[in-house]
Amino acid sequence: MSETSGKVVHVAIIMDGNGRWARRRGLPRVAGHREGVKAIRRTVEAAVEFGIPYLTIYAFSTENWMRPPEEVQALMHLLVATIQEQAEELKKQGVRLRFIGHIDALPADAAEKVRWIERYTQGGERLTLVVALNYSGRWDIYNAARQIARKGTDALEMLKNPDDFKHFLTTADIPDPDILIRTSGEYRISNFLLWELAYTELFFPDVLWPDFNKEVLADILQEFHRRERRFGMTSEQLHS
Ligand code: IPE
Ligand code: IPE
Ligand code: MG
Repeated sequence: MSETSGKVVHVAIIMDGNGRWARRRGLPRVAGHREGVKAIRRTVEAAVEFGIPYLTIYAFSTENWMRPPEEVQALMHLLVATIQEQAEELKKQGVRLRFIGHIDALPADAAEKVRWIERYTQGGERLTLVVALNYSGRWDIYNAARQIARKGTDALEMLKNPDDFKHFLTTADIPDPDILIRTSGEYRISNFLLWELAYTELFFPDVLWPDFNKEVLADILQEFHRRERRFGMTSEQLHS
């Protein structure tokens, strides 16, 4: 085990492969999304068990609006229904929910549910579950740039070094991910956390999201601890 990988504070996941999971079974794509919700539940429990304080899941990208309208509608419906169903249990487990992305541009009922569950679970102290919804990394950076432009030269006071830019992102108070997981055997970032992933360790397990479970996560954590994060330095420097 390498001493340089450090404690895992934040795991971020691009949950991919729901559609393929369903198609392989001759089911409609939305059946895969429903099964994907079960995998989220398992993963939240595993994260709590492994003592990971932040878990971020990519639920819907700004590009996902281009999918067939029935699928978009089914996804939004599933989201609102899941929030409703899971709220009490999540609160009981000490899970605090946070949403990142362009929430105000969602259908009004979805946006209201999102704000409601953030308030309802705000006391949760075991795990912060960050849901990226109507999210895109470029949108977040663009949104930050617009806020800075609105402040004019006052913003310069807040931007003493490059890291200060993060104060303007929707992830301002969330530590950058230590681990990024993308399931389904695709090797892309798909516009996720572009700023925040600068020094994240990347993992691409060969499972579809509905098949993701505690064992897959445990293997990734083990592999993470075997890696050496050098942050631009040399291995010798880290060990001296
Ligand atoms: C990920 O699964 C879920 C969302 C994007 C909401 P997909 O729906 O992208 O599944 P594939 O990639 O088509 O298999
Ligand atoms: C990324 O998956 C977005 C989410 C998981 C919400 P996609 O399936 O939409 O990504 P691409 O289009 O294959 O890159
Ligand atoms: Mg996909």
